[in-house]
Amino acid sequence: MSPIIEIKELTKRFKTRVAVNNISFNIEGGEIFGLVGPNGAGKTTTMRMLVTLLKPDHGEILVGGFSVGKKPNEVRRQIGFMPDSFGLYGDMTVQEYLDFFGACYKIHPHQRAHLITDLLDLVDLGHRRDDMVDTLSTGLKQRLGLARVLIHDPNILVLDEPASGLDPRARVEIRELLLEVARLGKTILFSSHILADVGELCSRVGIIEDGKLVAIGTLQQLSEHVMPHRQIHIGLLSRRDEAQVMLQSMTGVSEVRAVENGKVALEVDFIGDDETIHQLLAKLLEQGFPVIHFSEEAKNLEEVFMRTTKGIVS
Ligand SMILES: Nc1ncnc2c1ncn2[C@@H]1O[C@H](COP(=O)(O)OP(=O)(O)OP(=O)(O)O)[C@@H](O)[C@H]1O
Ligand SMILES: [Mg+2]
Repeated sequence: MSPIIEIKELTKRFKTRVAVNNISFNIEGGEIFGLVGPNGAGKTTTMRMLVTLLKPDHGEILVGGFSVGKKPNEVRRQIGFMPDSFGLYGDMTVQEYLDFFGACYKIHPHQRAHLITDLLDLVDLGHRRDDMVDTLSTGLKQRLGLARVLIHDPNILVLDEPASGLDPRARVEIRELLLEVARLGKTILFSSHILADVGELCSRVGIIEDGKLVAIGTLQQLSEHVMPHRQIHIGLLSRRDEAQVMLQSMTGVSEVRAVENGKVALEVDFIGDDETIHQLLAKLLEQGFPVIHFSEEAKNLEEVFMRTTKGIVS
């Protein structure tokens, strides 16, 4: 099966500035793909080229096999695009707003009424259908925006910073909603600064900086790439210094640090598989160390991001 989105050698310049610099990657159907990068990295520019709003200087994009340059209408039919800031038509009711966009897509009025009810159900806005758009909170406006981009039943959603400006609760809600939309079989490409969202939602992540794609893969792959070592946290009742010396001598262990938080604990950096982890624990217990806690620290996406990007974008 060929990928649903193929981006090849994509390049865009604004005067002397190279906003997108020779980017190539594919997205498979059904993926939730996160594009992450600092301000000015080129996320929005990449997305605008993908959704036919901006012409690349070089390179090609295929969406469902159709070239964005040669078959823009076929591409637009497949994509729902939510820009980072979109003008809402505030002096309409929620229902009128969706009806207007349904009409733009020439959906028959009778069918439109059913569709709007279904979409409002999906984004949980049914109870606000007769309220003016202006009166919705930022989080609810964002959900309405999502209903809008779904109106022509696209199989791909391209969402530029869908969680920006949302409070933590609204952010969790939009995340759940995106998962629900993905379960309907849609492919989702979204950009974000909020790394936690990307980590929890995405099947794969692309990290972009200064117009270049600097890393791509599952969170696991990116973590292993930039931080090949694993980290174990060990809590003890006593004998910390002795345990530190013993662990330092074991194969694969690169560093053992005492945790300075008042607890008797150690942090172990090592390279190895699960069998190696078991051997660390087995050795501690064999030698009678009073272990009360032993767990692998989850790798932090924030750290992966900081290590991958160099902060060269002003
Ligand atoms: N229309 C334009 N004219 C001139 N320069 C532009 C234009 N659009 C973007 N740029 C420049 O291209 C670069 C990439 O911008 P882009 O908006 O794609 O970044 P971004 O990753 O979306 O950033 P942010 O996280 O701030 O949204 C930036 O240096 C920006 O200033
Ligand atoms: Mg942007």
